[in-house]
Amino acid sequence: MPEPRFTDIRHFDSIDSTNRYLLDEARAGAPGGVVAVADHQSAGRGRLGRRWEAPPGSNLLMSVLLRPDLPAEQRHLASAVVALAATEAVLTTQGLELGIKWPNDLQASDGRKVAGVLAEADLTGAEGSELPPVVVGIGINVNWPATDQDLPPELVGVATSLRQLVGRPVDRSALLDALLAALDPRVEALESAAGRACQAADLASRCTTVGTRVRVELSEGWFEGTATQVTAEGHLVVDAGGVARTVVAGDVIHIRPGS
Ligand code: BTN
Repeated sequence: MPEPRFTDIRHFDSIDSTNRYLLDEARAGAPGGVVAVADHQSAGRGRLGRRWEAPPGSNLLMSVLLRPDLPAEQRHLASAVVALAATEAVLTTQGLELGIKWPNDLQASDGRKVAGVLAEADLTGAEGSELPPVVVGIGINVNWPATDQDLPPELVGVATSLRQLVGRPVDRSALLDALLAALDPRVEALESAAGRACQAADLASRCTTVGTRVRVELSEGWFEGTATQVTAEGHLVVDAGGVARTVVAGDVIHIRPGS
């Protein structure tokens, strides 16, 4: 049996950002497998430069440092395995099935967001290992919001929590343990082409975006179409008026019929 990978788990009552912390640790040569978990983040980072906020002691805010031996075009799979492990952990601990909205949001069956994933890599000055580091952070709405009244008006109908979905408080530490247990074999799988193909297939099968009409927001503009496929690299293929466009990075909004 190989040694479990995630044994170095560093807990913080408060920190600016667990992603920032592990990126600094990576630059100083920390090995793959280090985990940072915070009760509160004062400058939590979201995708596309947004902030990620949660009241102290309510949600699961964590990052893992990985040094996966991945071909450049499959780097996206490092964040996919964290999203997949999180859906697995929610299923095993809560009996609740979540979907993955491309690229990495966990969402409830009604489309409300339950968790977001942010992968960050900084290749400058990496020392101590030939494999480049990637830090994958995930924020899971575990016990906040407890009700819609906790949310700012613009997030009502957009975000929810495990507590709201299962109707009782949820144990964050059991969820963390289940997530790391599910993540270990998935990170191992990234080391082989067959394992990577499996992770990509898992992502495709849980991806709620395929078959949905979407608005794709890119740095240079936006377009609409129907998502048709998640490729083996984890990219999204969108049929935009008969032209297949492959989206490597960007934000996707699911367009509900009639909206
Ligand atoms: C998103 O915008 O959907 C991604 C949010 C990712 C938030 C998590 S919380 C733990 C980790 N540390 C951060 O600063 N961000 C990620």
